Amino acid sequence: MTTQPLLAPEVQRYLQRAQRIVALTGAGISAESGIPTFRDAQTGLWARYNPQELASPEALATNPGLVWAWYTWRRGLVKQAAPNPGHLALAEMERRVPQFTLITQNVDGLHQQAGSQNVLELHGNIMRTVCVAHRHPVTQWEPAPEGEAPKCPICGSVLRPDVVLFGENLPTDVFQQALEASRTCDAMLVIGTSGVVYPAAALPGLAKENGALVIEINPQETPLSAEADVCLRGPAGEILPALVRQVWPDQPTTQKL
Ligand code: OAD
Repeated sequence: MTTQPLLAPEVQRYLQRAQRIVALTGAGISAESGIPTFRDAQTGLWARYNPQELASPEALATNPGLVWAWYTWRRGLVKQAAPNPGHLALAEMERRVPQFTLITQNVDGLHQQAGSQNVLELHGNIMRTVCVAHRHPVTQWEPAPEGEAPKCPICGSVLRPDVVLFGENLPTDVFQQALEASRTCDAMLVIGTSGVVYPAAALPGLAKENGALVIEINPQETPLSAEADVCLRGPAGEILPALVRQVWPDQPTTQKL
């Protein structure tokens, strides 16, 4: 029995010759590591919780205990999670492509754990903690009384996870690098994102406008599907290893995919 190749031969050749590849990832790539997405109908976090009550600066100011309980719960999920074959395949891809940039909306750090080096975290990292007043990075703090947020040991202001909350701007330098990488890439893989949160969702359009081939990897159609040249429907943990095997079949792999 022969299996159908994932990519058409011309797409395979195009990726083999590409000098600059960008991967833009969202929560879907970590779903197979057991971290819930935000917008999947039954299992997504925003199906069960109101983002404005949990992930906004107003919520942190008015209900710090609840916000901290929510992030502490999510930190627990992240601590238990391990990279899946999708994360590992992207790390493998980076070793084979002359210039590879991984732009992620995820805050879980699983790409770095998988071995990816050139990672731009657009929405921060949930495992880091900073203070609201000066963004002091803090690794240890006194436990807070029930219903309150812990305080910065340096300046006494409230602590928060170092993630982008609703209504906040993305870290400027990181976003600038993401814009530049998107503008100049030969191909962009858009993986596991619903494509509804801006400005991240504008990056595939920018890549396409500048001549890149856009490939979407997602079991579901999204608003970004229309601008993708190729849509691969399925879980990232299966599609990405198959893609790496097809495009770079002869080079030695350093990790089992
Ligand atoms: P969403 O939850 O909005 O979308 C997840 C996407 O992953 C959906 O399109 C799913 O179809 C897809 N998906 C599910 N399982 C998958 C799998 N195994 N393989 C591939 N794809 C799969 O997550 P994001 O688009 O990342 O913001 O959400 C964007 C931002 O909204 C997040 O970064 C977060 C959230 O509010 C902040 O925290 C600032």
